[in-house]
Amino acid sequence: MNRAEDTVRVELGDRSYDIVIGAGLLAPGGSGAARIGKITGSGPAWIVTDATVADLHLRPVLSALAAADVDATPVILPAGESSKTMASVERIVGTVLDGVPERSSSIIALGGGVVGDIAGFAASMILRGIGFIQVPSTLLAQIDSSVGGKTGINTAHGKNLVGAFYQPRLVIADTGLLDSLPRREILAGYAEVVKYALLGDRGFFDWLEDNAVDVIAGDADALRQAVRTCCAAKAVIVGRDEREAGARALLNLGHTFGHALETETGYGSELLHGEAVAIGMVMAFELSSALGLCAAGDVERIRRHFARVGLPVGLPSVPGRVWDPDTLLDHMRHDKKVRDGHMVFVLARAIGEAFVTADVDPADVRTLLARTVAA
Ligand SMILES: NC(=O)c1ccc[n+]([C@@H]2O[C@H](COP(=O)([O-])OP(=O)(O)OC[C@H]3O[C@@H](n4cnc5c(N)ncnc54)[C@H](O)[C@@H]3O)[C@@H](O)[C@H]2O)c1
Ligand SMILES: [Zn+2]
Repeated sequence: MNRAEDTVRVELGDRSYDIVIGAGLLAPGGSGAARIGKITGSGPAWIVTDATVADLHLRPVLSALAAADVDATPVILPAGESSKTMASVERIVGTVLDGVPERSSSIIALGGGVVGDIAGFAASMILRGIGFIQVPSTLLAQIDSSVGGKTGINTAHGKNLVGAFYQPRLVIADTGLLDSLPRREILAGYAEVVKYALLGDRGFFDWLEDNAVDVIAGDADALRQAVRTCCAAKAVIVGRDEREAGARALLNLGHTFGHALETETGYGSELLHGEAVAIGMVMAFELSSALGLCAAGDVERIRRHFARVGLPVGLPSVPGRVWDPDTLLDHMRHDKKVRDGHMVFVLARAIGEAFVTADVDPADVRTLLARTVAA
């Protein structure tokens, strides 16, 4: 097995931590379990996962941990977004308190963004904060949700409205875990990989044009490089703006449009988050181009790249679904990122040169939405 590993440091003073990236970190002989053991020490630990990931990966991960003298009690939640509830948090809190934790005890999150967000939120509140370690098992979680310390749950009022900023002490991104991930989930995560290129790194976009096929097929070197580049980009942004007062908003490229599409489709399997973000990024660049900020050629390049890898570039046609520009605009106006009544957009001057603005005329957005719906 390819044993190469890379480390990205997130610099946040006394809350700094490493993201270790490589194939097989948690397989026999990998360095992941020993690294986790250094954080958990000899006390009790808990491993939160979901039923799908548990079936595929829990047993080997537990034995790797046991070999490093980490004794972790599993908490297995149902798979899927519907688990992101206060009830799941209460279940984790109850199990952990039953085991008499100390401040130095740790929760390990083994799973996608859903597991990471819930487990991190639970860790933030037990004894006002116990140790938290992320072992992300989706591409999206390895390049995005496991890094940066946003944790939380959904309520009847909306997604991610309750949560905490709570940094992990370590992230182990074992890209070997992605071998079992369905292709559609890989592609959805890949859309967020492209996001980092589009928002700030034109050279990375050039690289992705040459290497996307290997990244998506799970080639160990290509995946490690892609995950490292994304984590390094996110680490810089989070290091500058941990609590999303400014620069971190760049990470929302494609998300203002994407969330409107997800609101319309109900956050289900009709449109995965990454797919919505892919369409949203094309729309953000279309809008940038329509406003004369960005060359039409850049928009074409992005469309071509997404189409080539199999990501959507326009609104999907689903029987019974009627897209309406005014409804979508309405969803955008109710996004939680609206500031003083102004919709916030991430636009771009070119591939790799994105910026945040609240100064976009809703009429221009409406025109773009109408054009997209008609396409
Ligand atoms: N905290 C943040 O900064 C942040 C950022 C982006 C997204 N998020 C959150 O992340 C969530 C989405 O994350 P996600 O896309 O990872 O979803 P997810 O955790 O639901 O995982 C997607 C699906 O893949 C399955 N799965 C996970 N790992 C697998 C593996 N190795 N093999 C096979 N199947 C596997 C899961 O069981 C699930 O069914 C959302 O709730 C979103 O709000 C958080
Ligand atoms: Zn996203």
